[in-house]
Amino acid sequence: MLKLKQVSKNFGGLPALSDVTFTVPKGQLTALIGPNGAGKSTMINCMTGVFEPSSGQIEFQQQQIESLPAYKISRMGISRTFQNLKIFPRLTVLENVLTGLTSDGGDSMLLAMLRLPSLRHRERQLKLRAMVALDRFDLAEKANWPAGILAYGDKKRVELARATVGNPQLILLDEPVAGLNAEETAAVGEQLHLLRSAGHTMLLVEHDMALVMEIADQVVVLDSGKCIAIGTPDEVRCNPLVLEAYLGRMDATA
Ligand SMILES: Nc1ncnc2c1ncn2[C@@H]1O[C@H](COP(=O)(O)OP(=O)(O)OP(=O)(O)O)[C@@H](O)[C@H]1O
Ligand SMILES: [Mg+2]
Repeated sequence: MLKLKQVSKNFGGLPALSDVTFTVPKGQLTALIGPNGAGKSTMINCMTGVFEPSSGQIEFQQQQIESLPAYKISRMGISRTFQNLKIFPRLTVLENVLTGLTSDGGDSMLLAMLRLPSLRHRERQLKLRAMVALDRFDLAEKANWPAGILAYGDKKRVELARATVGNPQLILLDEPVAGLNAEETAAVGEQLHLLRSAGHTMLLVEHDMALVMEIADQVVVLDSGKCIAIGTPDEVRCNPLVLEAYLGRMDATA
């Protein structure tokens, strides 16, 4: 589905990613883990056209995408959530999710379109899909609330509903349960399980190791911009390089 070949990204001469190579197989959940600053979000930003890699190739369904702008990559069927929430606070929860159904990821065209009487039927269909996505994340009752007034955990789930509503080919999730309580984490974990069982291809960046180990088919470990291990959760858990990367971090923060 997605192939990364020797992807590097430098910021002002400092490497955030160095020669990272791995694949995200179709129908599987790949977890991308690593200590803070390892380059995980930078990787997602390179996959979605937010950043252009300094070198290397990214191939999505046999097409090179590393130099394409974000809106084109989104149209090709890659959706994402953001580590730092990016919702539209003045739009309703439902309208936020509807933006995930526009072909270009923007909202203005869709909202203009929704007001044309001739498109009422289409409007109903789109709203129904958005409501199904909201229901999946337990937000249907808040559909008409302005998104800005929601609690943090609800905002995170609005992003998840928006990222999944359009039935994308590939879903990139940047720390979807960070900051959620145990109950919310379990509910989101269950939905990720269901999406995976339904055959969705996902890349999950997450620090919650219990969730990663339970749900991932493949785990890719980054440390200081380098890929230090790739394998099943069990293989990666016992890998000495991975243990060292995490223990090193614990030492540094102790
Ligand atoms: N826009 C940017 N400009 C300059 N440096 C950046 C930028 N984005 C990321 N970096 C640097 O790149 C490195 C990797 O950052 P990144 O955010 O990808 O890490 P991460 O693995 O997502 O960490 P975390 O777990 O804390 O989210 C860090 O050293 C960071 O300071
Ligand atoms: Mg990050």
